[in-house]
Amino acid sequence: MPAPTQAQGTAPRPGAAGGGLTDRHGRTATDLRVSLTDRCNLRCTYCMPEAGLPWLPKPTLLTDDEVNRLVAVAVRDLGVREVRFTGGEPLLRPGLVDIVEAAAALDPRPEISLTTNAIGLERLAEPLRAAGLDRVNVSLDTLDPATFKDLAKRDRLAATLRGIEGAAAAGLAPVKINTVLMRGVNDREAPDLLRFALAHDYQLRFIEQMPLDAAGVWRRDEMVTAAEILAALKAEFDLTPDPEHRGSAPAETWLVDGGPAKVGVIGSVTRPFCGDCDRTRLTADGQVRNCLFARGETDLRGLARSGAGDAEIAGRWREAMRGKLPGHGIDDPSFLQPARPMSAIGG
Ligand code: 5AD
Ligand code: SF4
Repeated sequence: MPAPTQAQGTAPRPGAAGGGLTDRHGRTATDLRVSLTDRCNLRCTYCMPEAGLPWLPKPTLLTDDEVNRLVAVAVRDLGVREVRFTGGEPLLRPGLVDIVEAAAALDPRPEISLTTNAIGLERLAEPLRAAGLDRVNVSLDTLDPATFKDLAKRDRLAATLRGIEGAAAAGLAPVKINTVLMRGVNDREAPDLLRFALAHDYQLRFIEQMPLDAAGVWRRDEMVTAAEILAALKAEFDLTPDPEHRGSAPAETWLVDGGPAKVGVIGSVTRPFCGDCDRTRLTADGQVRNCLFARGETDLRGLARSGAGDAEIAGRWREAMRGKLPGHGIDDPSFLQPARPMSAIGG
């Protein structure tokens, strides 16, 4: 598959007059992930310890107005075209609907999506849709209540399924489902999850587990690989490569039984897509991360609170992205897990 041309990624666009978020490896970030809280009502083992974590202190969290301002700078001045709200669990953020509404009012209007565990989404899907939310990605790793409880340490499968239905009913389509498989826990469920997704017209994507757990117990040789996931699916379905272009989307997609239904596999570890990465991240406490696995961060909260103008904030954000490393280096012997776990970075 050909790589996307540079022209697509770096074409000048209105609103990015001072320059977009380009790095030294030819990439331009146009996709902003904003974590709205580091808290969550689940405890997925690959993300958070059962006892929770020391939460970010309240005064360090960006206020709704601060979030809205930084998103506006990204969209108006830095060429960001897509804004995804994440967590922790973003539905726990009281101001979420208003934050979505503010993003939808920007010119140019970005695409707006949400990565969520869907608990409570049956109630919030309609207001979020009305506020301008375009799409949701729901994390769902199992269809078995006991496995759910084992994996997420809370007995909430039914609530999650209700939330997914609510999202679909509200027209937040296509509903995408993210699944992380873990050996001996839920790895036998890949075909069942695909049947479930096909039956409801959800788009399922399997994600290789990355070393982002708070306990630091991830082991490369225990990870369920993209190749294994594909083999398990191919035993029960006919998969053909999706003729549509992959672009910067991390999921490699396959047509299921001739299509039009598709399934995606995100081989973050064994098939890294860092060369096509178009992301920039903002944590709930206002730090820019130029990569999930970055060792450093750039403080925009302090800058904003010290009275800096939008142009200065945009300049600092550009600088933060200039230094983005070419890849995550998970396979490098010197690889170190980031100090923040996934729940405090945002997916
Ligand atoms: N590896 C891969 N995916 C992860 N997610 C959370 N932690 C990890 C990890 N260690 C996924 C969740 C969710 C999204 C935020 O990222 O399943 O879908
Ligand atoms: Fe919560 Fe998502 Fe982490 Fe699971 S993966 S504990 S749902 S933030």
